[in-house]
Amino acid sequence: MKKQQIIAVYGLGNVGGPLAAAWLRAGAKVIGVDISEKLLTEIKNGNSHKKEPFISITFTSGLKAGNLSLNSNGVYASKQSHIKIIAVPVGLKKNKIDLDALISVTKDIAKGLKKNDAVLISPSLPPGTTENTILPILEKYSNLKGERDFYLIYNPERIFEGRALQDIEQNYPAIVAGLGKKSEGFGEELLGIISKKGVLKISSLANAEAEKLFEGVYRDVNIALANELANFCEHTGVNYWEARKGANSQPFCHLHYPGTGVGGLCIPVYPRFVINKAVESKIPLKMVEYARTTNDFMPKKCVADSITLLLKHKKNLKKSKIAVLGLGFRGEVTDSRLSPTYTVVKEFLRKGCKVEVHDPYIIADKLLPTQVKLSSNISKVIDHADLIFISSDHKLYSKLTTNAFREAKRPLLIFDGRNILNKANFKNASILTIGMG
Ligand SMILES: NC(=O)c1ccc[n+]([C@@H]2O[C@H](COP(=O)([O-])OP(=O)(O)OC[C@H]3O[C@@H](n4cnc5c(N)ncnc54)[C@H](O)[C@@H]3O)[C@@H](O)[C@H]2O)c1
Repeated sequence: MKKQQIIAVYGLGNVGGPLAAAWLRAGAKVIGVDISEKLLTEIKNGNSHKKEPFISITFTSGLKAGNLSLNSNGVYASKQSHIKIIAVPVGLKKNKIDLDALISVTKDIAKGLKKNDAVLISPSLPPGTTENTILPILEKYSNLKGERDFYLIYNPERIFEGRALQDIEQNYPAIVAGLGKKSEGFGEELLGIISKKGVLKISSLANAEAEKLFEGVYRDVNIALANELANFCEHTGVNYWEARKGANSQPFCHLHYPGTGVGGLCIPVYPRFVINKAVESKIPLKMVEYARTTNDFMPKKCVADSITLLLKHKKNLKKSKIAVLGLGFRGEVTDSRLSPTYTVVKEFLRKGCKVEVHDPYIIADKLLPTQVKLSSNISKVIDHADLIFISSDHKLYSKLTTNAFREAKRPLLIFDGRNILNKANFKNASILTIGMG
């Protein structure tokens, strides 16, 4: 990468924000592009990316030093930059892949694309998408030819929300695949600048796209296995958590945590990309499909178990108030996309219960039903609750004691869907823990 080259990052969310910050920290000039005026204002005010250390600070000093500029005009940013990194979301709409944001941004980039520019794609995609969908758009709207006139690289992002910058800079090698050898070489040299673990070259764009999806499939299938074994334990008087600890002391065993469900934009989504492709190609993919079904069913199963606990204590469902703790799709994230908590809430409402939700980080949410209050004041949510349902493993919950639940009704009934409570802190409570028989 030549010193004066400018990098435009399209989409400044959970992935693009840390990527832009990593390039600023490496000394690059960056144009941050996003269609969300709210996010751009937060960045300007120094209060974006609240759960990711250093990003907001990096943006503030970048803006001050003139190394970072912000824009919502993708064509302009493409004209002004040499390297374009795409980090917009690719999710599902009714179980079908939603490429709208990716296609829209690709068109913007193509309209400003110049000879010797580079385009890097980071969202997770079904194998073949970069070559068969993105490349033709880039060529059509730019009148340039991939590999001959511009570089095209697939570089999937592999971050864990909450430590994204560290993951990009230190924890993983950067995966790089190019449209051809020139693109691959450009990507290798470029990504080597920010990735301390170096670059892992993959010989085709489709293989690299598949690599990223397989990481998600592996996690989903193994979480499903944990959920199934946890269910087995619940019915056979076995403690999954202790058995897991013992089993994992053997180096080839990596049993995962069971839980109330799998959420977020990654793990529940990537298996679907693979399943859809398998269906198109008429290839059986039973284990992946079964894992999805198992994990999707977990919120309903956990609610059913909690209801058994309520009924055992002769509670009237229609009059019961449920305090659901945690809206984030997992602990310590501010992201609630595809969170299992939404299904948990819906299920309790369907049974006629009243529901309030607590989350320490999410203060407003548009997807919860209107009759469900969301609050970051735990005593308010717990007040007069007949049952406390722990849905996300926020660290705060591990420190709770009976004292925190003083306002709940007695007997104190708790469903610990993440095995996060320190049971020694709870005397005289009836606690049902996932995976414990
Ligand atoms: N979140 C993760 O942990 C993670 C990890 C690895 C890979 N990924 C991949 O990265 C992709 C992006 O995920 P994310 O979590 O950063 O999403 P996000 O929703 O947090 O951020 C995406 C940003 O793109 C912006 N955007 C949408 N359309 C745009 C457009 N046309 N032009 C400019 N900006 C636009 C949005 O306003 C948003 O700020 C995902 O599809 C996923 O495949 C995510």
